[in-house]
Amino acid sequence: MLDPKGRVAMVSGASRGIGRKIAERLLAAGYMVSAGVRNPGSLAAGDNLLVHRYEATGEARAWADATVARFGRIDVLVNAAGISRPVPLDSDDEAGLDDMWAVNVKGPLRAIRAALPHLRAGGTGRVLNIASLSAKRVANANFGYAMSKFALIALTQAVRREGWEHGIRATALCPGFVATDMTAHVADVPAAAMTDPADIAALAEMLLALPNNATIGELLVNWRLEPML
Ligand SMILES: NC(=O)c1ccc[n+]([C@@H]2O[C@H](COP(=O)([O-])OP(=O)(O)OC[C@H]3O[C@@H](n4cnc5c(N)ncnc54)[C@H](OP(=O)(O)O)[C@@H]3O)[C@@H](O)[C@H]2O)c1
Repeated sequence: MLDPKGRVAMVSGASRGIGRKIAERLLAAGYMVSAGVRNPGSLAAGDNLLVHRYEATGEARAWADATVARFGRIDVLVNAAGISRPVPLDSDDEAGLDDMWAVNVKGPLRAIRAALPHLRAGGTGRVLNIASLSAKRVANANFGYAMSKFALIALTQAVRREGWEHGIRATALCPGFVATDMTAHVADVPAAAMTDPADIAALAEMLLALPNNATIGELLVNWRLEPML
């Protein structure tokens, strides 16, 4: 396994939910963490924690540059920022789909582009995209979200292809319901039955520590019995 000491991880969506749990977990494991958040006041910076403004609909280079200026390198990029919006199949309203394409797909793409030269330089770069089981099947009416997450799988595979010879490994982490603000509206499943975001963070730490020759491209996480293992 890779030693986290001295490794630098950028984490988007670090203000809340899964991204925040991952940022905290990596910090505790010994990483230097660069948290990308829309509101830098949402997180208290520390010796090994840089908090930088990151808006997923914009560019990510300023965040990557600030990370390198502070910590000297980038080894890990976790794309956790994401949104879910309804998209009707039977009307022309595409606003939700456009929003999700911008945040869930182009956001990670831009963050990857910004981090890529630095990930290449280290020889053990890691990209962890928080996708979803909705990236693997369409199980409910939320198909627009699934479209954006299927696209994130394509992006993950692209990074594996392009980055492989430089030691970059990319993984799509695919949970079902996780108990965060995103699922707070789900009335028929109690939060306690959903996956705990702290457990997603534990899986993220494990995935990011795997060596170049023991890499996992997708990890599917179930809180209930699913046809997809
Ligand atoms: N919860 C689930 O059941 C579940 C399951 C599978 C996958 N996922 C995925 O896991 C990731 C994290 O979700 P979560 O459950 O932690 O959701 P969450 O609690 O709603 O948190 C969403 C995070 O994304 C950030 N974000 C949203 N729009 C942004 C933008 N335009 N620019 C920058 N940051 C933005 C939020 O920042 P602000 O605080 O500034 O709003 C927040 O940090 C998402 O990609 C989601 O699709 C979630």
